[in-house]
Amino acid sequence: MTGKPKLWVTRRLSDATLERAARDYDAIINFDDGLSSDDDLVAMSAKVDAIIPCHSERFTAEIARKLDPRLKIIANHSVGVDHCDLPALKARGIVVTNTPDVLSDATAEIAMLLMLGAARHAAEGDHLVRSGNWNFWSPSFMVGKQVTGARLGIVGMGRVGQAFARKARGFDMDIHYYNRTRLPPHQEHGATYHASVESLLEKADFLSLHCPATPQTTGLMNAERLALLPAGAVVVNTARGALVDESALLAAIESGHIAAAGLDCFVTEPGGNPSFSAHRNIFMLPHIGSATVRTRDAMGFRALDNLDAFFNGRTPKDLL
Ligand code: DGY
Repeated sequence: MTGKPKLWVTRRLSDATLERAARDYDAIINFDDGLSSDDDLVAMSAKVDAIIPCHSERFTAEIARKLDPRLKIIANHSVGVDHCDLPALKARGIVVTNTPDVLSDATAEIAMLLMLGAARHAAEGDHLVRSGNWNFWSPSFMVGKQVTGARLGIVGMGRVGQAFARKARGFDMDIHYYNRTRLPPHQEHGATYHASVESLLEKADFLSLHCPATPQTTGLMNAERLALLPAGAVVVNTARGALVDESALLAAIESGHIAAAGLDCFVTEPGGNPSFSAHRNIFMLPHIGSATVRTRDAMGFRALDNLDAFFNGRTPKDLL
């Protein structure tokens, strides 16, 4: 290839990332930050050698089939790649990468915030004070569920799950986990392994989801599995909305079987689930798990590192 590779950055990434992208590539940057349509993805593939998309751009099998052969690499600015049909992209000879590691701590922080906020009525309390309606106090008022020393179940003990477990140890939690493969003992740090999700759920007074959304995990937390949680459990999701059957979660919240939920991810994004809004014991955030300055710089740089490797004839570190 003569000259700099042509790159399309689909969203407004961090300033440091955009500066480096503009320095090293012939970059088209979406400064307006609007969402691209399926037609845009297809049309742009004929104009560029590489795309840095976010999880907001969906490369389905149908789109993959229509992509122009000019496009060589999709260097995602995300660890999750459920928005990409990997077999379909690979069948088109398109290289796909992601950004693992660098967002684990930021996402684990949000999981901790959601767990604490859901357990201790953060949304309800904030609303009460902010609305000017706080006119009563009693020892039995907004009594929550104590996190310190409680049993925590983690589904998916990958990088984010492990980062969350490290933070939960600071709260002396009794940590249990399910993972497809058991971690080596030195990485378990005393956490108890469960060979099935069902066995884990029975122990999880607090449950936090950290597995990717795949056809196998879609709807993982359905009515049957939610029923296995101890009465009064708290459910936290910072992974993907698809992991949770939202109607089943709503029913479990309404019956009181689930005391509270902390959600950063929803089946429909942006927007979330309007049925959740009536329930102050559902503490919600708008998919901001990795949204810190440090982490967004690191994600952007990781995506660019993968592009640099590819265009210099090396295997990208995060090749999928
Ligand atoms: C990820 O990296 O997958 C986060 O959800 C942000 O896109």
